Amino acid sequence: MNQKGGVGKTTTTVNLAAAIAQAGHRTLVIDLDPQAHATLGLGLDGAEGRSIYDLIHDPADAAAAAREVAPNLLALSSHTDLAATETELASAEDRLERIKRVIAAFAGRVDFVLIDCPPSLGLLTLNALAAADEVLIPMQAHFLALQGVGKLLETVKLLASGTQAINPRLTVAGVVLCMHDAASTHTREVVADLDAFFEGTRGSDVPWRNAIVFRPAIRRNIKLAESPSFGKTIFDYAPQASGADDYRALAETFLVDRLPAGAVRSRGDMPIVITRLENADASIPGNAGASA
Ligand SMILES: Nc1ncnc2c1ncn2[C@@H]1O[C@H](COP(=O)(O)OP(=O)(O)OP(=O)(O)O)[C@@H](O)[C@H]1O
Ligand SMILES: [Mg+2]
Repeated sequence: MNQKGGVGKTTTTVNLAAAIAQAGHRTLVIDLDPQAHATLGLGLDGAEGRSIYDLIHDPADAAAAAREVAPNLLALSSHTDLAATETELASAEDRLERIKRVIAAFAGRVDFVLIDCPPSLGLLTLNALAAADEVLIPMQAHFLALQGVGKLLETVKLLASGTQAINPRLTVAGVVLCMHDAASTHTREVVADLDAFFEGTRGSDVPWRNAIVFRPAIRRNIKLAESPSFGKTIFDYAPQASGADDYRALAETFLVDRLPAGAVRSRGDMPIVITRLENADASIPGNAGASA
């Protein structure tokens, strides 16, 4: 999630999910944005079958609505109708529980669920936060982009803690740097600020106390912008592009901390060898021991 628009949420959801699926883990993408960009990017037509809009209103047999877009990769499509959900559910007492209910139907069927949120902190995003274990924040390393992150973290905190907590399990996994330009001094300063900010929260009780800036950053790569127009993930559209390398490596970093030791496997059951990443900082938890 990130309430700022155009930061790389959809690109990250689609391609990180595809990389996790290629590594052999059953993965579900939920397109929770009325813009339906993840739906398009996965080559689906939101007008066909039951969309997430339908399931929010009637979750019966939700698992049957998922469509298989690649081996191990399932998706629940979005539809522009989803924009009306906010008002339609305004007086429903369980309005924050709708996505949780949908996901419950996939228990035992998938290993990971990635939810693509719209660029707002409205009811749809709150539904995702009520259902999730972790928040990934795609962003560009620019000064103004940092400004919104404080508000975003406060929103997570509201849902995760206090007597009225809706989802006490919820934590912030960290920031995914998108459209990254490592050559720029400004970018490097912003990343250093982010690293220092998260480091400063270790041992506290905020939901981002274990958050990291994920490495590697996702470099700017035009193939990532082109692939949605063909309804393909980067792995089907341009598997040799830097965008494919970056999302594959991001998935490895992501999986290492989320699977039992020795369980990380890439496509074809070849063990993934995690090499120390060029820009990895060993002082950041999650990167320490990144050479195996
Ligand atoms: N690493 C990248 N290199 C080049 N282009 C990228 C990269 N990541 C994303 N883009 C492009 O930038 C634009 C915004 O990305 P994306 O749609 O993923 O952002 P978003 O946060 O989901 O946007 P929204 O807030 O509208 O949902 C898209 O055109 C996308 O193809
Ligand atoms: Mg998007």
